[in-house]
Amino acid sequence: MKIVNSIEEVRSNIRQARAEGKTVGFVPTMGFLHEGHISLVNRSKSETSYQVMSIFVNRLQFNDLKDFTSYPKDMERDADMAKNAGVDLLFVPDENEMYNNNLTSVNVERLTDHLCGAHRPGHFQGVFTVVSKLFNIIQPDVAVFGQKDIQQAVSIEKMVDDLNFPVRIIIAPIMREVDGLAMSSRNKHLDAANRQNALVISKSLRKAEQMLIAGETHAGSVISAMKDVILGGNPASIDYISVVRYSDLSPVDTVTQKAVIAVAAFFGTTRLIDNMIVNLDKGSVECIY
Ligand code: PAJ
Repeated sequence: MKIVNSIEEVRSNIRQARAEGKTVGFVPTMGFLHEGHISLVNRSKSETSYQVMSIFVNRLQFNDLKDFTSYPKDMERDADMAKNAGVDLLFVPDENEMYNNNLTSVNVERLTDHLCGAHRPGHFQGVFTVVSKLFNIIQPDVAVFGQKDIQQAVSIEKMVDDLNFPVRIIIAPIMREVDGLAMSSRNKHLDAANRQNALVISKSLRKAEQMLIAGETHAGSVISAMKDVILGGNPASIDYISVVRYSDLSPVDTVTQKAVIAVAAFFGTTRLIDNMIVNLDKGSVECIY
């Protein structure tokens, strides 16, 4: 595995890989890697023959300065994990390499009106701007994103379509700890009590699944039952519990066809998110989480 810091080195390495007939897969990350990130690399390996990962804590997408400065880092461990996962090229730019008096930003309208978009002003614009830059720098054939950040993944699919990026987007499943907590770099910030309390998030999704299976389709009832479950874990606050249509991520009153049920809540000072995709088809219920 090669570790490079400059855009020029990325381009020359990828040119070489292309000359050898390889296809390029890309997994963008902010580091402090866990099995969720590695699962994306594995998916990318099943689709392409040369793997690129980026690690860049993108200041533009943090609406809270403290969240940015305290974002966990462990470059040595990350490099080991990426190498063991089969990453060929690890791109670790610094701030100056990525942003040199940047005056351009990318936005995806409507899809970012609700869920995290409503609670983290400027966040998604920062994400789409950096992902656009990374796509232009790397020019991958395939890029893999996690369902964990469903609004990010769905919006990036739309961005790629709207702006004609020649890349295929894959959305890969959420990796969880054995007790159900969705893996996240931010889990490191949870103390023992909040780590335990945070289990109510995945439990609330299971509760929603049970209700849907029992025939409940009223979003308000599902949300209120989920809220009861989450309050049982003493969250510092709940940002949202929402049922949205998959296609445009806008809230629905009744769950029909394809939907997303998503949660964001603070445990201590740590903001956690989780979600499930719901497919309702002729009375059958499929929940992917
Ligand atoms: P980061 O939070 O590091 O996540 C990188 C990728 O890993 C994202 O696609 C995210 O959805 C995925 N991921 C995170 N936790 C996961 C889990 N438990 N299971 C499966 N996949 C998981 O998302 C970002 O970074 C940034 O916004 C980025 C896209 C890199 C732009 O800066």
